[in-house]
Amino acid sequence: MTLPPSALDLHSSAPSGASRSATPRPGYVRLAAAADRGRWSVERDVRWSSVDPARAHERSDLLAQLCTAALSESYHPVHLGWMLHDTWDDIDAGAAIAFELYEGFKHFHALRSYLDAVGFEPAITDAELVAIRANARAVGPKGSLVERLVEFMLSEHLASYFFRRIGEQATDAVLAELLAFIAADEVRHAQAASDLLATRIAADPSVVPTVLDAAVHFHHFGEQAVPDVPVALPGDPLAIRSFTRRIERLCGVRLVDHLKRQL
Ligand SMILES: [Fe+2]
Repeated sequence: MTLPPSALDLHSSAPSGASRSATPRPGYVRLAAAADRGRWSVERDVRWSSVDPARAHERSDLLAQLCTAALSESYHPVHLGWMLHDTWDDIDAGAAIAFELYEGFKHFHALRSYLDAVGFEPAITDAELVAIRANARAVGPKGSLVERLVEFMLSEHLASYFFRRIGEQATDAVLAELLAFIAADEVRHAQAASDLLATRIAADPSVVPTVLDAAVHFHHFGEQAVPDVPVALPGDPLAIRSFTRRIERLCGVRLVDHLKRQL
């Protein structure tokens, strides 16, 4: 059987295979390989039978924050739906958004399942999820595509810190393990969004000021879904420093210099 060129490219990108072509691999191949390396199963890899509700409720404040995070993850089909529509001619963006939709759904599913398993109240209801989506749809997408890609990248970046920090404080070991899975996914999601922005900046460097402005005026996408969306712990210096570094690496401009220029 003769494989189509795309299949050969995929084949040659396997870790054990030598590259058969000097052509750079499409971004979606890298995304797919990274997603495959990071894959985990809600059903098989979370030790559901060992969930300890009593231990979990020792930190009901963390459970409340995770409930808000689950609601925020549930909102992906609305804002990523808009983004998918706006990036129809960008193959890598379509793949990155598809992975985000699937894995964001996994995060929602796992978090809601965990909250239900420990008997967290008030339990999330489907009517609540629909109401959140209806509110967001009534407002519509906020900002240009580039601005929303920046918001997406930084939201994912801070989400990775948020889940990692909550995991460090979790009193139930099962929750700590689950949050480690989710935090690792968010690192990959932030990088995927960053790569999409890097491609756009390379094609048109005039978008750099828009990227920097969007970072300065950053709002987590989840704010359209829930008030007080938890992004990272307040005053988490590492999260804040790495937030700035990520933008500066992408734009080749220091945020502070960008702000000075605006004075
Ligand atoms: Fe994500």
